Amino acid sequence: MTDSQLPERKAVIRICLAGATGWAGSALARAIAQSSDVALISAVSRTHAGQILGDVLAEPRLTCPVYATAEEALAQPCDVFFEFTKPDVAKSNVLTALQHGAHVVIGTSGLTDADYAEIGEAAEKHQRGVLAVGNFALTVVLLQKFAEIAARFIPQWEIIDYAHDDKKDAPSGTVRELAYRLSKVHPSELTVPLEQTQGVPETRGARLTGSQVHSIRLPGYTISAEIIFGMPDQKLSIRHDSGTSAQPYVDGALLAIRKVNTFVGLRRGLDSVLDLD
Ligand SMILES: NC(=O)c1ccc[n+]([C@@H]2O[C@H](COP(=O)([O-])OP(=O)(O)OC[C@H]3O[C@@H](n4cnc5c(N)ncnc54)[C@H](OP(=O)(O)O)[C@@H]3O)[C@@H](O)[C@H]2O)c1
Repeated sequence: MTDSQLPERKAVIRICLAGATGWAGSALARAIAQSSDVALISAVSRTHAGQILGDVLAEPRLTCPVYATAEEALAQPCDVFFEFTKPDVAKSNVLTALQHGAHVVIGTSGLTDADYAEIGEAAEKHQRGVLAVGNFALTVVLLQKFAEIAARFIPQWEIIDYAHDDKKDAPSGTVRELAYRLSKVHPSELTVPLEQTQGVPETRGARLTGSQVHSIRLPGYTISAEIIFGMPDQKLSIRHDSGTSAQPYVDGALLAIRKVNTFVGLRRGLDSVLDLD
């Protein structure tokens, strides 16, 4: 058999995973260990720096070292940097990864539209892809898509963002992304402008890229997002509720890793690399 007759073998995608020991990152790391086309090269966690990730997660197939910072971990060449840490370090991690020539998937919530504008410029400069996904779960991807369709026909809506009481960032990455995407359709109309609200205007929520957003943080909630469209004498609610495991995020995260090298610049939302039409 000549070389040209051999079946084409795809290169394994080498990944640096920041936040590999966290709730979401550890589920992703375990899934990577079970996949043959992706491999973890390095991981980031301050508390487990110096250890082997597989020892921390009790998964012997994960043989990569853990580093305290993204800068140190990126000394190992990788194809994709996956950001799953915390909002305060996420942007600098992403910019560092782009400087090192990696494509980037962002799962961390809390980055602002201004942060994304800066990241998008850096991605163009370094000719790399950045895929930012506020929520990797399929039902959220569909919520975003259905809401965009509804917004084409219905001028007014409001968004409710539910999460557990100890979630520090508000609104959630899911809701930020939803509001951002709807702003590309049109801003939600207000019958009474906010400045004409009588009483306590803050009770009308925050104006976020053209949507009124209300964040609720209470024990008993995991993560939910609801968008309510209102028209005279009719309403439409579209709602996502997540369960307690990180499993719904894993498939979407793996898909993002496999797709992020197919474009240059910033894309937001998993459906930007899916054919949902
Ligand atoms: N897009 C989605 O679908 C999705 C799904 C789930 C979660 N999220 C988001 O992903 C992020 C992580 O969530 P999580 O629940 O997994 O959090 P978590 O359990 O607290 O894990 C955070 C991880 O990041 C590491 N970390 C935190 N601060 C760091 C720093 N300054 N430098 C280096 N490593 C740091 C932690 O390790 P050390 O503390 O040891 O450093 C840990 O490994 C959050 O923003 C969350 O909202 C998004």
